[in-house]
Amino acid sequence: MKVTLYYFSGTGNTQLICNSMKEEFKKANYSVNLIPIENAKPNLLPQADIYGIAFPIAIHTTYPFVRRFIEALPLNEAHSIFALSTMAGTRTGLFNYFLNLQKKRNFQILGLKNIRMPNNYFPKQIIVEENEKRIERGIESAEKFAQDIITREIFKYKKDFLSRLFNPVGNSKWLWTLIKKMYNFKIIEDKCQICQICIKECPTKNFELIENQVLRKNNCELCLRCLALCPNNAIQVNKKSYVIYKRNREQLMANFKEKVILTSSVIDYEHR
Ligand SMILES: Cc1cc2nc3c(=O)[nH]c(=O)nc-3n(C[C@H](O)[C@H](O)[C@H](O)COP(=O)(O)O)c2cc1C
Ligand code: SF4
Ligand code: SF4
Repeated sequence: MKVTLYYFSGTGNTQLICNSMKEEFKKANYSVNLIPIENAKPNLLPQADIYGIAFPIAIHTTYPFVRRFIEALPLNEAHSIFALSTMAGTRTGLFNYFLNLQKKRNFQILGLKNIRMPNNYFPKQIIVEENEKRIERGIESAEKFAQDIITREIFKYKKDFLSRLFNPVGNSKWLWTLIKKMYNFKIIEDKCQICQICIKECPTKNFELIENQVLRKNNCELCLRCLALCPNNAIQVNKKSYVIYKRNREQLMANFKEKVILTSSVIDYEHR
């Protein structure tokens, strides 16, 4: 069996969960192709028996560029899919979004799963023990979810009113425009060593180097990858510095070091 698993992870949680699922699938001799969304062209769907999509929940849905990618995938009745989200607490978004998409595309859903992980949403403080527990439980859930897909445990949808209520609001353009205005990112020149990691890794290409200075454009969708990756803590938001949970950050950095850097064009995807 071949699994293609597309994922986006801003600060490492979703990536950790996808790695755990991959290991579980491998135990059942499934081959797994993990593809970061920002490296992929949605119209070039590789041949696979099962397609997975994984992303963080953001504002009761997910980042607009992730939604644009998912909606540009040419999925139809010939495809079996599963989807998972990681989130900090409110399990809204995923279910409603995929069930609506299924109505239009008729793909088969093998499973939908929300997995609670450490909160990366501008954390005021990091409670290591609590985060470690969430990670441990999150990995267990991911392994169980992979097993359910392998054994074709029938997916049953429990009515999720929160998801139905909040998901359409979270998908609306006006809300994202408003939320983006609430957060003022600033690069602190004295701290910035112009390493260009943010320029290379931002999925919406929101940074540019002009006259030896890193500047921000207006494409940010708040995935917080730049905060997680900046080695010098040089990016402030609303005049504060935020530290993303270190275990995730190390995991994320290790992964990025292995890869040749991204060639993102995600913001160009058309809505269908
Ligand atoms: C802008 C933003 C919005 C978020 N909104 C939600 C939300 O509505 N509900 C929730 O449970 N978690 C929310 N979170 C938390 C993330 O979903 C969670 O920490 C996730 O595991 C991060 O995944 P990643 O490390 O793969 O990026 C939000 C995080 C960010 C950055
Ligand atoms: S990642 Fe940080 S240090 Fe590197 S260029 Fe960006 S802001 Fe500067
Ligand atoms: S600027 Fe930072 S937070 Fe905004 S989309 Fe790029 S990496 Fe994510």
